[in-house]
Amino acid sequence: MKELDPQNITGVVIDQMSSTPDPRLREVVDSLIRHLHDFVREVKLTPEELSDGLRFLTNVGQTCTDTRQEFVLLSEVMGIETLVYTIADRLGEEHGTPTSILGPFYVSNVPNLNLGASIVGERTPELVFYGQVTDAHQRPLSNASVEIWQTDEDGLYDVQRPEFSESDLRGRFYTNDKGMYYFKSILPLGYSIPMDGPVGKLVSAQRRHGMRPAHVHYIVNAPGFKSLTTAIYLEDDPYLNSDTVFGVTQSLVAAVKEDDRCSPMPGLPTLRFDFQLRSDT
Ligand code: BEZ
Ligand code: FE
Repeated sequence: MKELDPQNITGVVIDQMSSTPDPRLREVVDSLIRHLHDFVREVKLTPEELSDGLRFLTNVGQTCTDTRQEFVLLSEVMGIETLVYTIADRLGEEHGTPTSILGPFYVSNVPNLNLGASIVGERTPELVFYGQVTDAHQRPLSNASVEIWQTDEDGLYDVQRPEFSESDLRGRFYTNDKGMYYFKSILPLGYSIPMDGPVGKLVSAQRRHGMRPAHVHYIVNAPGFKSLTTAIYLEDDPYLNSDTVFGVTQSLVAAVKEDDRCSPMPGLPTLRFDFQLRSDT
């Protein structure tokens, strides 16, 4: 038995865990322990700070419900989710549209709509969203499904409204034989992440604003290609460079065009975004 000290404890812990049969589990947990131990040594974490941290994590867990995932939010405000996506997006040879945060407001049972339909219900549509879905070699993908959801003029998703009863500002479209999708909608508004839980309190303690820039979420699927979950962010949004969950990257920023001669539905401003899918192999 050796005398434990701040340096040798790490090796002792990793030695005991060397019985782990699953090689990937062993690799991940070994590395996690090394980094956590280094972190504790670097900041000289005190016993009181350890208790505070564990209380914080307990509180994060206790804030989770069927419809609220505070741990996911924690990984988002720390940039972990986006870091994982940027690594996964670069694994293959092919270039594709970057992944962006799914968020908690995705609903899978949305109406299938015809190309060109409006998703704004009784409101007057303000602009046309359109673009082409292609493979990594710019070949159009027909019959790709394009699911979209966005906030309204108040920065709320339909499910957040007290009077919510039916799908609004959501839809699923299928691309035509040229790989094109298009629909009519309104401009989304940016909004705050939930600030009333432990993660929001951390964000406030860091004097961060808690906002997300205006965006439209997309999930694009085509047989033989990796599913793409992403979002398009509106140029000129004041929070574009300080998204609280780090979902924005330059190639996902798009600008509204007032007079777009390529528009599939002339008469309204447009927001064009083309998606490139990576093959499944
Ligand atoms: C969203 O984009 O829908 C979202 C992402 C993180 C936290 C809250 C909302
Ligand atoms: Fe969102």
